[in-house]
Amino acid sequence: MTPPLPPALLVCALAMVPALQAVDYPREIRPLLRDRCSSCHGPLKQKGDLRLDAGSLIPRESHREILTRILSHDEDERMPPEGARLSAEQVALLRDWLAEGAPFPQDEVVARAPAEHWSFQPLSPGPVPRSPHAHPVDAFLFGNGAAPPRAPDTSLLRRAHLDLTGLPPTLEEQRRFEQTPDLGTVIDHLLTRPEYGERWARHWLDVVRYADSNGYERDAAKPFVWRYRDYVIESLNRDKPYDRFVLEQIAGDELDDASVETHVATGFLRLGHWDDEPADPQTDRYDQLDDIVSTTGQAFLGLTIGCARCHDHKFEPLTTRDYYSLVSIFEPLERPRKGRTELPVMVDGTEVYAWREPSAPPPLSTILIRGSATRRGEPVTPAVPVILASRQPDFPAPGRPGTGRRLGLARWIADEHNPLTARVIVNRVWQQHFGEGLVTTANDFGLMGAPPARPGLLDWLAAWFMQDARWSLKELHRLLLTSRAWQTVKTGDSPIRYRRLEAEAIRDSMLAASGQLNPKRFGPAFRPSIPAAAIEANTDKTSVWSPSAEPEASRRSVYAFIKRGLVIPMFETLDLADTVSSCPQRQVTTVAPQALTLFNGDFANAQATHFAARLRREAGPEPEQQITMAWRLALCRTPSEGEAARMKAFLAGESLEQLCRVILNLNEFVYPE
Ligand code: HEC
Ligand code: HEC
Repeated sequence: MTPPLPPALLVCALAMVPALQAVDYPREIRPLLRDRCSSCHGPLKQKGDLRLDAGSLIPRESHREILTRILSHDEDERMPPEGARLSAEQVALLRDWLAEGAPFPQDEVVARAPAEHWSFQPLSPGPVPRSPHAHPVDAFLFGNGAAPPRAPDTSLLRRAHLDLTGLPPTLEEQRRFEQTPDLGTVIDHLLTRPEYGERWARHWLDVVRYADSNGYERDAAKPFVWRYRDYVIESLNRDKPYDRFVLEQIAGDELDDASVETHVATGFLRLGHWDDEPADPQTDRYDQLDDIVSTTGQAFLGLTIGCARCHDHKFEPLTTRDYYSLVSIFEPLERPRKGRTELPVMVDGTEVYAWREPSAPPPLSTILIRGSATRRGEPVTPAVPVILASRQPDFPAPGRPGTGRRLGLARWIADEHNPLTARVIVNRVWQQHFGEGLVTTANDFGLMGAPPARPGLLDWLAAWFMQDARWSLKELHRLLLTSRAWQTVKTGDSPIRYRRLEAEAIRDSMLAASGQLNPKRFGPAFRPSIPAAAIEANTDKTSVWSPSAEPEASRRSVYAFIKRGLVIPMFETLDLADTVSSCPQRQVTTVAPQALTLFNGDFANAQATHFAARLRREAGPEPEQQITMAWRLALCRTPSEGEAARMKAFLAGESLEQLCRVILNLNEFVYPE
């Protein structure tokens, strides 16, 4: 954060910031006003009778006053009255925007009152618009207009493989497609592949803050946590209906047909980081419950309920009572442990990483004043956020094994009438396929989240997903990938965006190209080798990390051990999800170490060597053939004449290994067309 400028300097700085051509309200102004002004001038509070959270709500006669207030030197006048003053750039942006007449998009979604917020309303799926485009997604997106051009077949083959399995098509799959270039058949086939579950499990693991260790000082391994990872992979491969998937993770132990599998599913609740020797055990206990409540809110409902732990939510109609009512649902849970060592739970003789809920009467739950574990307020009982429920759901009577509280919550979340659940998951799937969600804030569907770009389409998809597809994620993939929208070239006004592959898909694609990928599935995680520099600081280097042998370490990345305190540098550099809290979308940063990792890292070099050996083996000694096969394995196409000629010239002076390194570093390798 830039330190605030003293007022005199601020004015100077302002004079130096040139006026912009046109300020981008949705990107530059709305987030600024929401961050710094909406807690007092938003849907919840209107200090000075003023709302600033949407362009249409800002009266013209306030423009001058806004500028005066943000520039004021008088502490009693200055806005915002608390926290850092706005930076010179922020002030300049607001000044220019106000000078332009404070323009905003006419279709900006505005909630007059918090209860009217769009995502809290029941779905309202209108009919598919009349359109020459037969596919419903296209009819919504393109209406009567023309669709952007379709991408070439080979790009789509590679795109489908990477999207659905995270791996490039093999030579055999490319040959088959050339004979019968039918994308629909390819998509159907990919949805039956076990690699589909491995790919999509990783997306879900981001959302549920998955890691294999606890973090903090000792960072011990979570015993048998990989069973939860395998559970996710298998659930996706079997196309478990999403509503059932929700029930199992929140309350799998309380279901009538509970099984080892559904117990494993509740590992979801125990994935958070955990301090095995906390300074203050009471606070730590509520930190753990907070982890569960916050993650449940974000992952399934797209709600930032965790913000209501210490004060009523400043931006959303969520109160501390709502928050602690949710806490009370999870409060009966106990973490099985022996001192600092965590224990698994025994279910039917196999070990399961889950919490235990003793059938003893649940503890009395209360609000904690300002979030302090020692300041108890009024008692609370299980309830869901009031803004979302005109009537509270039925929580099963206690007396069954467990209190039934989580089952009550899970049923309410997985209910067809919950306005958020289907919208949130459909948006997550859309985001992975199109590069950007219809709601760009995938974990925040609240008032402060981004409004939906296509409200009609989002609601139609959510309703279709529940009613026609019966919560089948595979049906949803099929629907999206057969649309022209997904098949367009990734340019300018296309609905699909260029996005770099995630760290895992880059690593797995390298292994696939080099022929080293070990397809072994499931079971305990492997440990990739790690550069010595990464563990330099540790006194006991072997106990902190002992790498697996190369064949084991050549398994898919979803099986790599994720240690919270020691993230594998290649993953870290390529923007692995933060494992402390739910990650709605991978960041895509561009930093120098990425180039070093991909061009000169041990892993990349080893794969280049294997790749070259494979080409010699399978393509023979002729450079032309080696180049063509390399191109097909890595990029799923034949090189153009120019490319082939340049590569041939390169090979005249350099080794095949070097050529392979270059190919694995082509932009097209990590940014699929
Ligand atoms: C922590 C609460 C808080 C925040 C945050 C805040 N304000 Fe205010 N604002 C107030 C209060 C209280 C008043 C009414 C008292 C006053 O006029 O000073 C007010 C009054 C105003 C007024 C005068 C309204 C009128 O016509 O009487 C303007 C303009 C204003 N704020 C702009 C802003 C802007 C712009 C931001 C963000 C950059 C902001 N405020 C952030 C609390 C806040
Ligand atoms: C661990 C306790 C705690 C949590 C969790 C917490 N806050 Fe706060 N927050 C405070 C305290 C303490 C203050 C200052 C006193 C006050 O305004 O209540 C504060 C003040 C604020 C303010 C400034 C006051 C105002 O009215 O503008 C905002 C905005 C805010 N919090 C937003 C959030 C958001 C958003 C989250 C969730 C991401 C959050 N808080 C989570 C403790 C917390």
